[in-house]
Amino acid sequence: MKFLLPLFTFLSLSLVSFSQEKPYKIADNPYDNDLLSKEFHKGRRDEFRKLMPDKGVAVIFANPVRNRNNDVDFEYAQNPDFYYLTGLNEPNAVLVIFKEDTKIDTLDGNELIFVQNRNPLRESWTGRRFGKEGVKKQLGFKNVLLNTDFRKTGIDFKKYKEILHPFQYNDIRNDDEDSGDLYDLVKAFDQNTEKYSANKNFKSFDDIMAKLREVKLPEELTLMRKAISITCEAENELMKAAHPGMTEYQSEAVVEFFFKHRGAENEGYPSILGSKENSCVLHYTTNRKRFESGDLLLSDVGAEYHGYTADVTRTFPVNGKFTEQQKIIYNLVLEAQSAGIKACRKDSIFSVAHLAAVKLISQKLLQLGITKTEGSFRKYFMHGTSHYLGLDVHDVGNRGTLQPGQVITVEPGIYIPEGADCDPKWWNIGIRIEDDILITAGEPENLSACSPRTVEDIEALMLQKNVFKDLK
Ligand code: GLY
Ligand code: MN
Repeated sequence: MKFLLPLFTFLSLSLVSFSQEKPYKIADNPYDNDLLSKEFHKGRRDEFRKLMPDKGVAVIFANPVRNRNNDVDFEYAQNPDFYYLTGLNEPNAVLVIFKEDTKIDTLDGNELIFVQNRNPLRESWTGRRFGKEGVKKQLGFKNVLLNTDFRKTGIDFKKYKEILHPFQYNDIRNDDEDSGDLYDLVKAFDQNTEKYSANKNFKSFDDIMAKLREVKLPEELTLMRKAISITCEAENELMKAAHPGMTEYQSEAVVEFFFKHRGAENEGYPSILGSKENSCVLHYTTNRKRFESGDLLLSDVGAEYHGYTADVTRTFPVNGKFTEQQKIIYNLVLEAQSAGIKACRKDSIFSVAHLAAVKLISQKLLQLGITKTEGSFRKYFMHGTSHYLGLDVHDVGNRGTLQPGQVITVEPGIYIPEGADCDPKWWNIGIRIEDDILITAGEPENLSACSPRTVEDIEALMLQKNVFKDLK
């Protein structure tokens, strides 16, 4: 650490003069040419506006920067609503959408965005910012102001009939050196709207966002297909690479290697790689156990590509061969899943796949003597079968009828932990099979069919050589 001190001294001195230099030039889309277009985000704001009440105003904040520990923050993750409506991946910003055209100070129009300023000193530590000009040029906004102007901008919130805004904020810290950070934006909003007086005009915009986001547009589906195909490849390569002696964390490394190798920025959620007893823990993320021959591995993973996440689960034996008991439970889950997928038709109720899966699983567990009453299937299948998928792994949606353009998961499972009230031959079998299903006007499309699901296909794939060849 000692040797760092002179470096810091040097840096802080040199940065004083550096910070007075002109901000960097903004590069045109420097690395990726398949991001959502500015027309997409503008179109989404226009649709949002149509769903707003008359004389309404909506206020949507960027996510906070979240602290990991001491002076290290987590990599920034934008509020998906904010990203969907703007395309901006920066913190300390707020979007204001008006139902009707409005004149505020010198600005004319029906939307306004407040963003953080360029700051060469900070940018040299944490990366480039768009600034006002960048947001205009890259994201197509007309009315862009600095976040430090939010408080004094003449938006008279009392004038509006309804104020749509998020009801929950968490983990917002005040940066004393930044008077336009999220802490100050929220404080100014609360004060300007007199939020803490008994104002009846506040409403959440969650139902509007759910209505928009639950149906994916073609641009979004292109990104989702990419995230899902990367995830299939990672699952398939893990099947080839898995072997007794490998650890859960090594299997996580194989999966996440392929995510990054194929250009996914992140995992959409912490990777779940649970073997043997850990296959029965629904959201297991410790990933420390070593595989032994005879163990099952439940791999529930999803690459996140340009914000959109996949969510695919495969369960397979680490030695490449299912035991008789594992095969019986696996085929039961597979049958339930296939029935669930088939049921995903336009205009069906949201829970149609769950009902199909429950019917099969409850009857068959009883026939196998694993349960003693039909209702007790819940001991071993304790979660729902579907959720929407998109910018969030558990994406927003209103759970009405299924409609073309929606992507939902179908993921039944059976989890029989050690000590369960059944023949011990079933213990430590945890199986979930999960696919990402696009609802269409006709047959549902399984977007993750690129990873095998049958016992025969999985066992055949596991015989193939893995790309790491000598991976130990
Ligand atoms: N993949 C995690 C979940 O669906 O809950
Ligand atoms: Mn899922």
